[in-house]
Amino acid sequence: MTSTIYLITGSSRGIGRGLVETILARSNTTVIAAVRDPASAPSQSLQSLSKGDFSRLIVVKIDAKSPTDPAAAVDTLQTEHSIDHIDVVIASAGISEDLSPVHEVSVPVVQQHVEVNTYGPIYLYQAVYPLLKKSTKPTFVGVGSPLGSIGGMEQRPFPNAAYGSSKAMLHWIVRKIHFENEDFVSFVSDPGFVQTEMGNAGAKAFGLEKAFQTVEESVGGIMKTIDEGTRESVGGKLRVWDGTEFPW
Ligand SMILES: NC(=O)c1ccc[n+]([C@@H]2O[C@H](COP(=O)([O-])OP(=O)(O)OC[C@H]3O[C@@H](n4cnc5c(N)ncnc54)[C@H](OP(=O)(O)O)[C@@H]3O)[C@@H](O)[C@H]2O)c1
Repeated sequence: MTSTIYLITGSSRGIGRGLVETILARSNTTVIAAVRDPASAPSQSLQSLSKGDFSRLIVVKIDAKSPTDPAAAVDTLQTEHSIDHIDVVIASAGISEDLSPVHEVSVPVVQQHVEVNTYGPIYLYQAVYPLLKKSTKPTFVGVGSPLGSIGGMEQRPFPNAAYGSSKAMLHWIVRKIHFENEDFVSFVSDPGFVQTEMGNAGAKAFGLEKAFQTVEESVGGIMKTIDEGTRESVGGKLRVWDGTEFPW
């Protein structure tokens, strides 16, 4: 039976790790877990996750700040693991480290967010593109945020100039991929307000005990969209984890 091949960035923690765990537990999957530091304890512990029948895990290094890591990872995948195509790529690695309004935000901090949250997925997409093209259903998912929405800004009026603007640019790129490739399913996934290090830090900054969704709820929703989504139903859209849509 043919294995479905997934590549997920930011696999060490949070939503990325939850996606790895869920997909690896299915049968006949190959999960390429991209991590910033393969030697770290969280990355090493990926090896102990349960695997479904005939499923396998490959860990590769991709630092989102590196222009060369994604291409090097693709080379390793082809030469050492006989990967000849990839079906689903999920760009989950991201940072949110500043909650300044526009009049106060430091431009170098904006640059750091754009580097990880936007340039990272562009380097990634360019490196995996030839392998995605060989899939029967090439799927590219950018993990985005309603905080990066321009049309729905009044629904999320919180200060986040660095993070929000970096996600807005990511959204543009992922939606553009949809229009540039008529055989691709490319969409942005809003994972919810998720109980990860990032989500819970954001919750505390706004006086809440923790974020709202569990990683399991969020990952369940993202996977349902990937499994059932078609170019027509989800392509070019900002899909929320619960199946609804958010304005760009
Ligand atoms: N949590 C939420 O409520 C929420 C809401 C909307 C959108 N999102 C988005 O969901 C995605 C995942 O967030 P999360 O909640 O899972 O955050 P998290 O728990 O803080 O995990 C962030 C992940 O990104 C990785 N990462 C950070 N900088 C990196 C870099 N330079 N290169 C490679 N990997 C890097 C981290 O790796 P290390 O372990 O090496 O640091 C970690 O695996 C992000 O894109 C985030 O913007 C989250």
